[in-house]
Amino acid sequence: MSQDGLRKILEDRKFLFFGGKGGVGKTTMAATAATWLGDHGYSTLIVATDPTVSLSAIYEQRISETEVTKIGTARNLCGLNINPKKAMGMFQTRLEGTLSGFATLFGSELLSTPCTEEIAAFDQFVSFFEDTTHDKVVFDTAPTGHTLRELSMPFDWSSYMTNQIKNRRELSEALGFVYDEKMVDDLKVEKERYDKAVRGLSDESISAFNIVLLPERLPIEETARAITDLKGFGINVPAMIINEVIPKDVLKGNWFLERRRATQERYLEEIETRFPDQIKREVPLFDTDIYGIERIRMVGEVLYGK
Ligand SMILES: Nc1ncnc2c1ncn2[C@@H]1O[C@H](COP(=O)(O)OP(=O)(O)OP(=O)(O)O)[C@@H](O)[C@H]1O
Ligand SMILES: [Mg+2]
Repeated sequence: MSQDGLRKILEDRKFLFFGGKGGVGKTTMAATAATWLGDHGYSTLIVATDPTVSLSAIYEQRISETEVTKIGTARNLCGLNINPKKAMGMFQTRLEGTLSGFATLFGSELLSTPCTEEIAAFDQFVSFFEDTTHDKVVFDTAPTGHTLRELSMPFDWSSYMTNQIKNRRELSEALGFVYDEKMVDDLKVEKERYDKAVRGLSDESISAFNIVLLPERLPIEETARAITDLKGFGINVPAMIINEVIPKDVLKGNWFLERRRATQERYLEEIETRFPDQIKREVPLFDTDIYGIERIRMVGEVLYGK
């Protein structure tokens, strides 16, 4: 339960993810980490890949969908909201450029896979993995299922690409088409970008995929599933943030709160025994919701120290 462990992850790794079930506090914890890092001298970018306005709400300012926006008066912190619809437009334009030769030769079905929107979101995400202008990039990811689907995309996508290259080459040679090696090279470059990002995600010297959960049944089950699924992609979860734990000093004989706390207590024990490999930190349930830089800093102090 050491504060040091969690802080070390933040300070040692460049790409920081906060996943978990809907509504458990992912955006809050991503903003907390980003703010803490900014305050501690790291040039930090927070990227939301979630199609909501949470990041703007939490920082009480507009955060752009197209340009990296400076947050508050902090010198080191900026943010960006990725809009999946816009991302898709950009992605298609680029892909169409790369594949136009292919599409003319073999038809445009190549561009309309059922998951183009997810691929587009992942594509944006990949470009942040190539970031060299910030010390830290914090991702406010979408809820677990969606995120995992995005993560699984590059695998399908690259093998799809590889097969396309292989099959089409044989076909085109058989039919006597002039085969443009440049098209294949472009696809190989795309594939390499995706593979690199996936390798980066599982590289524990640069990335950390942390999970946020509540001491409740459903988030615990979703966490167990996420850990297993991520492992399938070679990604280990180093830490868990257990959010909204009712502080003992507010109970004061209130039966309702005492029962809630007793329930949480049982789940906290379950979390300890079921997830022995992760560093765990608790965040208390605050008496208000968390927005504005001052409240975020309060959470930062709980999790990472002064
Ligand atoms: N420890 C806490 N005490 C009080 N309120 C909290 C705490 N943690 C989060 N909240 C509040 O809970 C709400 C949900 O938090 P948040 O938006 O961070 O969740 P999320 O996991 O990002 O949700 P979504 O899945 O919709 O993106 C917010 O209003 C936030 O201010
Ligand atoms: Mg959120």
